[in-house]
Amino acid sequence: MDWKPEHSVGIREIDDQHKKVIEIISRIEQSVKLQRGWREIVYDVVDLRVFAKSHFEFEEGLMRMFGYKEYTKHTGEHEHFFRKLTEIESKSVSNLVESELLKFLRDWLKNHILVEDKSYAEHILSGASILKATVPTLTSVKLTYITTPQVV
Ligand SMILES: [Fe+2]
Ligand SMILES: [Fe+2]
Repeated sequence: MDWKPEHSVGIREIDDQHKKVIEIISRIEQSVKLQRGWREIVYDVVDLRVFAKSHFEFEEGLMRMFGYKEYTKHTGEHEHFFRKLTEIESKSVSNLVESELLKFLRDWLKNHILVEDKSYAEHILSGASILKATVPTLTSVKLTYITTPQVV
């Protein structure tokens, strides 16, 4: 799976993060296809979990800041991704080839970017205002995303 211009949500930072998630999933798919051992694949799987977590937190922070109405539904989708990733982690490499879990993950991501992520990006790009009560000082923005998720 490659990132294509039609995957763009119109926000460069988010597009860059999506490119990275797609790149990691493709690496894992390739390794599984070549039947590499878990010892080689596990680094990419950990990378995917860590990076996807920070990407989702980044998006969720934006959605809270801009008062996106579909916040809860969207975060539920993110949780679904992690449940599937946990299933992948519990499989052996040969099981992964047969189970199509990776294909599911790839299709999920593609659909999620094209529908859910484009939707919140449109909300932001349409000129939605920042909810002042949720805006932390600049230096604490990143920490707020990561440590204190809250629904507005
Ligand atoms: Fe998302
Ligand atoms: Fe995303």
